[in-house]
Amino acid sequence: MSIVDGQPKLIIHGGAGSSLKGEKGADLVRQSLYQVIDAVYDKLLSGLDAKSAVILGCQLLEDDPRFNAGTGSVLQSDGQIRMSASLMDGNAQRFSGIINVSRVQNPIQLAQFLQSSDDRVLSDNGAMELVRELQLPAYDPLTKLRLQEWILEREGNFDKAMAGVVAEKELVSEAGRGTIGVVVRDAAGQLAAGTSTGGKGFERIGRVSDSAMPAGNYATADAAVSCTGIGEDIIEECLAARIVIRTTDGLPISGAFDRSFREAHQRNRDLGAIGIDATGTIAWGKTSEVLLAAYHDGETIGDTLDMARSMGTGSRLA
Ligand code: GLY
Repeated sequence: MSIVDGQPKLIIHGGAGSSLKGEKGADLVRQSLYQVIDAVYDKLLSGLDAKSAVILGCQLLEDDPRFNAGTGSVLQSDGQIRMSASLMDGNAQRFSGIINVSRVQNPIQLAQFLQSSDDRVLSDNGAMELVRELQLPAYDPLTKLRLQEWILEREGNFDKAMAGVVAEKELVSEAGRGTIGVVVRDAAGQLAAGTSTGGKGFERIGRVSDSAMPAGNYATADAAVSCTGIGEDIIEECLAARIVIRTTDGLPISGAFDRSFREAHQRNRDLGAIGIDATGTIAWGKTSEVLLAAYHDGETIGDTLDMARSMGTGSRLA
C-alpha cells in the first residue's frame, strides 16, 4: 500500500498515576516510549494497517519490564500475575479481549486471535484453555522488582489504591509501572486501539480490569481511545466509549476529551486516556498526577511527561 490516503498518526501510553521519581524517572520512561514510537511509526510508513500496528505496539510495550503489562506486570494480592488485554478495530467496530490470563508473554496476541472468533471475550479458565489450544509456550512475566514490591506491600497489608506509575521506593526506583495502550490511525484512515495490563496491583482474585472492556478501550470509524488509571474509576465513567461517542455525535475529539475529563475531575477520578479521531487529530487527558504518553503526529514526536500535576487535556490537530 502506498501512503496516498493520509499521514499515519500514533499515540501510546505506559500508564497514569502518581508522580514520576524526578527527571531520571521521566527520562527512562521517555526513552522506552520513544523506542516504541520509532519502531511502530516506521512500520506505519511502510503501509502497516492500524490493527497490526496496535498489536505490534502493544507487544513491544508488554515486553518492556518498565510497564505494568506482559513482562513486569504487577502481582495480585495472592502473589500471582493475571493479565488482561483488548483490541478494537474501529472500522470493523469489533472488540475482543482476554481477562485474567497467566503465563503468557503477550496477552494482546490472545485478543488478536479472538478478533476472528465467535466468542470474543474470554476470562480465567477459558483464557487458559485458549493458551493451551494455541500451544503458546509457558512464560513467566514476573520480574524481581515486582516480587520485591509485592513483598513490601504485603507487609503494609496492601493499603494502596494502585501500584504507583513509577516506583516511590528506592528498592524499585528504576521500575516503571502502568497499563499500556496504543492508538493508531493508519495511512488509509483506519482506526484501532489496544490496551494491556497486569491490573491495578494487589487486587483480590477475580477482580476484572477496565482494560478488557469497552470502558477502557474503544474504537469506531470516528475515533479510537485507550485508557489507563484506576479501573473502577474508568468503568464508572465508561471513559473510552464516552469520548468516542461524543466524537461521533459531533464534538471535536479535543472537546470530547475536555468535557469528559472535566466531569471525571469533578468526581475525583484517577485516570488518563489517549485517542485519535478520523481526521488524524491526536488527543490526551488526565486527572492523575502524570500521564506517560508519547505520540507521532506525522511531523514530530512529542510526549505528555511534563504536563502540570493537575487535571489537563491536550491535542495535536491533524
Ligand atoms: N487500568 C488498569 C486496571 O485498573 O486494571
